[in-house]
Amino acid sequence: MAAAISALAAKVNEVLELGQHPSTLVSSSPEWKALEAHAKSIQSTHLKDLLQDEARTQALTREAEGLYLDLARQNATPETLELLLKLAAKVDVQGKIAAMYRGEHINTTEDRAVLHVALRAARDQVIEDKGVNVVPEVYEVLDKIKTFSEKVRSGEWKGATGKPIDTVVSIGIGGSALGPLFVHTALATDPGAQAAAAGRKLVFLANVDPMDAVRSLGGLDPETTLAVVVSKTFTTAETMLNARTVRAWLVAALGPDAVAKHMVAVSTNLKAVSAFGIDTQNAFGFWDWVGGRYSVSSAVGVVPLSLQYGFEVVRAFLDGMHAVDEHFRSAAPAANLPLLLGLFNVWNATFLGHSTTAILPYQQALQHFAPHVQQLSMESNGKGVALDGTRLDYGAGEIDFGEPGTNGQHSFYQLIHQGRVIPAEFIAVAAPQRDVYLDAEKTSSHEELICNFFAQPDALAVGKDAEALRAEGVPEPLIPHKTFTGNRPSLSLLLPDLTPFTLGKLLALYEHRVAASGFVWGINSFDQWGVELGKALANKVRATIHDARAADGALPNAAGYNSSTKALLERFLTQYKPQAPGSGANNLPEPLRAGAATQASL
Ligand code: F6P
Repeated sequence: MAAAISALAAKVNEVLELGQHPSTLVSSSPEWKALEAHAKSIQSTHLKDLLQDEARTQALTREAEGLYLDLARQNATPETLELLLKLAAKVDVQGKIAAMYRGEHINTTEDRAVLHVALRAARDQVIEDKGVNVVPEVYEVLDKIKTFSEKVRSGEWKGATGKPIDTVVSIGIGGSALGPLFVHTALATDPGAQAAAAGRKLVFLANVDPMDAVRSLGGLDPETTLAVVVSKTFTTAETMLNARTVRAWLVAALGPDAVAKHMVAVSTNLKAVSAFGIDTQNAFGFWDWVGGRYSVSSAVGVVPLSLQYGFEVVRAFLDGMHAVDEHFRSAAPAANLPLLLGLFNVWNATFLGHSTTAILPYQQALQHFAPHVQQLSMESNGKGVALDGTRLDYGAGEIDFGEPGTNGQHSFYQLIHQGRVIPAEFIAVAAPQRDVYLDAEKTSSHEELICNFFAQPDALAVGKDAEALRAEGVPEPLIPHKTFTGNRPSLSLLLPDLTPFTLGKLLALYEHRVAASGFVWGINSFDQWGVELGKALANKVRATIHDARAADGALPNAAGYNSSTKALLERFLTQYKPQAPGSGANNLPEPLRAGAATQASL
């Protein structure tokens, strides 16, 4: 008992030393109270007036690493920023950033370091976990990926029938898919990356829904296809079933020996890789200090992306991430872009009560950015308790969603302009990867796009009042419908271009923005216990369905489901009868063999 108490006391001290804090403490601090009071006073301001103040705009604008961040359309004044920085100091955000880079086990519930920054560190940098420099291990894997990807891309690596590989299927879900898919989509139109990928194809298979397998594998030639099974744990049910499906697809076409030449793996669990039948020589490792949603810069992203674009393109992307990592580590709080983004995120979500954020890149190449940020942010900061287990007495985390502009404008912007208040993050690229400028047009297509990037934030901030509408002769009954109340917050982020290097900066900026918000909220942004309950219940349902099938579709009496689930399950069991295994179809959907379907775009 005494030993347990002293162990607990030691843990508490350790937590306090790291500058972590019970939520009750931070929300009762003078810094927090000052922000609460300030949030009330900010209600009496309007952005159309605040934007008249040039000094304020200057005070709320920053540039670092070529990234230009304009916070002038936040419901905020320089005083807001000052108060937020005081809160950051109160909770020792800088100390927490330093602890992260020092390899402290800030992921306390899993007793793990959080060192994704080591994945893109310089070769001679020293970053330690448990006293061991992890950077040499990182470079061991990077060098292995470089050699392997060059072998595959040069045609030296041949498939089972002697043909070179030109297609890669990356099998993984969540953090093992969303980030790499985002980066792949963004690189696909970069001229240099596109040239490097000529004649090659990269597709992603994530969902366990058989339609995803049909769409991903349809039209592919097994003889020239390499599957990369990407799973940190190598136990994720969806990924492992998809991996077995692809293995069956390869074996059906090329025979059992094909696995060695057509399947490789990325995982921290090399034992499970080997048990699956993949030679660990063909496996690329990473470490428990890389969270799934922070793993794009590990082998998770580097293997498929290097196979598609070549290692050098991916290296430039990693270098971009590293530039922002160094900025986050060393810049003063008032100049630290990820920290400022994180602080204003807390301001909007917690103090102003806006629980949703719209991520709006004016750049089609960033099509998959919002879905990636969704996992990054919502899995990281969707927490209800502080690090010490205290239930939060304030709302943390926010709902992130988004679409590229201008598509979103013709979809959900109506609600953002006249319905609920949703802080928006407008992201644009000054010099695009590609442009169209028709002879007969006055503006290039990129300028046409960018006009909207400038117009929308002002429409949200300034709005349009009844007086202006009357001056335009709008009939009185329509005035309420056509009024824009304005005062709706947004930020604008302007990137110089969208090269692999800048893309890396954007990604690191958002990774650290999420961590910075979490540091202020006092939560663990690096675990994800909230995904476990549903997984466990699905395991139970799987067993129930097996039992019911064995009993001719009858649900076992003592299955223990509530009446709602029971009724749904019974209905499902009568309406769906799968083909029995061994019936000759091997359950591989026909398009996998016939190549009838193809995955739309990427
Ligand atoms: O269920 C959530 C999750 O654990 C994510 O955090 C992770 O990115 C994803 O599943 C995939 O996990 P793995 O890479 O282990 O297959």
